[in-house]
Amino acid sequence: MKKFSVVIVGGGSSHSPGIIKSLVEKQEEFPLRKLVLYDISEERLKVVDKICKQLIKDLKEGVEYVVTTNPEVAYEDIDFAFAQIRQGGLKMREKDEKIPLEFDVVGQETCGAGGFSYGLRSIPGVFEMIDNIRKYNKDAWIINYSNPAAIVAEATRRKYNNEKILNICDMPVAIQLSFAKMLGLQSYDELDPVYFGLNHFGWWTKLYDKNGVDRLPELREKILESGLAASHDKHHSDPDWKKTWSNFKEILEDFPDFLPNTYLQYYLYPKEVVEKSNKEYTRANMVMDGREKQMFEEARLIDESKGKHKVNLDLFNAFGDFMVDVAASIAYNKGNRYLVIVENNGSIPTLSKDAMVEVPCYLRSWGPEPIVIGEIPTFYKGLIENQVAFEKLAVDAVFENSYQRALEALTLNKTIPSAKVARKILDKLIEANKGYWPDLK
Ligand code: G6P
Ligand code: MN
Repeated sequence: MKKFSVVIVGGGSSHSPGIIKSLVEKQEEFPLRKLVLYDISEERLKVVDKICKQLIKDLKEGVEYVVTTNPEVAYEDIDFAFAQIRQGGLKMREKDEKIPLEFDVVGQETCGAGGFSYGLRSIPGVFEMIDNIRKYNKDAWIINYSNPAAIVAEATRRKYNNEKILNICDMPVAIQLSFAKMLGLQSYDELDPVYFGLNHFGWWTKLYDKNGVDRLPELREKILESGLAASHDKHHSDPDWKKTWSNFKEILEDFPDFLPNTYLQYYLYPKEVVEKSNKEYTRANMVMDGREKQMFEEARLIDESKGKHKVNLDLFNAFGDFMVDVAASIAYNKGNRYLVIVENNGSIPTLSKDAMVEVPCYLRSWGPEPIVIGEIPTFYKGLIENQVAFEKLAVDAVFENSYQRALEALTLNKTIPSAKVARKILDKLIEANKGYWPDLK
């Protein structure tokens, strides 16, 4: 069986131990010859390395393990790059969330004005990363889940035609895991989804089990009766995420045709979301005070005990399995069917061909092959077209260095009530993002 070399770009993230845990657990399905942790922050890499040392001792003998801040070392000999960079770190996430809230507008890292702010920072960072990878390596697959994935995917489509670049998100599989459990199944891939939409903006229309039976109607009844079972993966089961799981039933009561992605709460109920938000203490604060602190604390305990402290693995459980499953399907040309972000090209015929949509695709060694979704009802089409226009204008703002396109993007977004508010938020975001955003003229 061919073995693969993987680099985690943004290796200093608190998500890295979770990914490495999955790589270790799935060695039979996706055997490694080399594992590289790469980050621009040496300090963060050191912390993650301490934790990962305990994980990688369970790797098969002979797997090379490299930790580096040198891009050449990181990229020259790899088959897959798992990319999870966060421009500006969590400190900038805090601003993305808090600035819109000052104007009573949804403050969320990937949706609305917050997602826009993050998007304009991410695009130059992701481009630099891809150029750097390609400088040393022409052939590696780049599996990118740097956020906001929808905007980033549109940007990488324009610049690289997404050649050997696949943009993905773990939210659908996290939700699907809850669906599966509610139906008495064990894992997310026991259900084959039919799903249409955009990243963080889509709906399930069918959920086939392995016998080919669509279990969605049965599941809809269950959810309407008792709500969606809270997530079973560690990442999405922390107390703050519980609100999101309980909002699912409300969305379904209003729009029972299809099962929604949980991120739709921000677009369908922006007013109510803002009313329940704490403007002084947002999700970024919770992550900094929670996951981040815990990771640094684990590293400290390892130091203090001279390596004897056993890492609490339950703390790290994000993204990993899906990343590895996607890579394995490409690596071995398995053609497994997963929800990923691809150029529409007629999958949803009524939407523009060059929209980046999230739909089921068969993942082959030559890339993702989307299924045909067909026509979608007017309500959903209207919502999606508006959001596609927002995403495209956000990317236009970067490509054209244009204040006007930025203003248009924010004005269009469903979470923002007026062009006047859009302008005020934009001006504040420009200030906050100095040194990260391109100069908008
Ligand atoms: C989900 C989304 C990711 C997002 C994450 C944020 O997994 O799919 O795109 O980054 O949630 O989670 P956090 O715990 O950092 O708020
Ligand atoms: Mn996501």
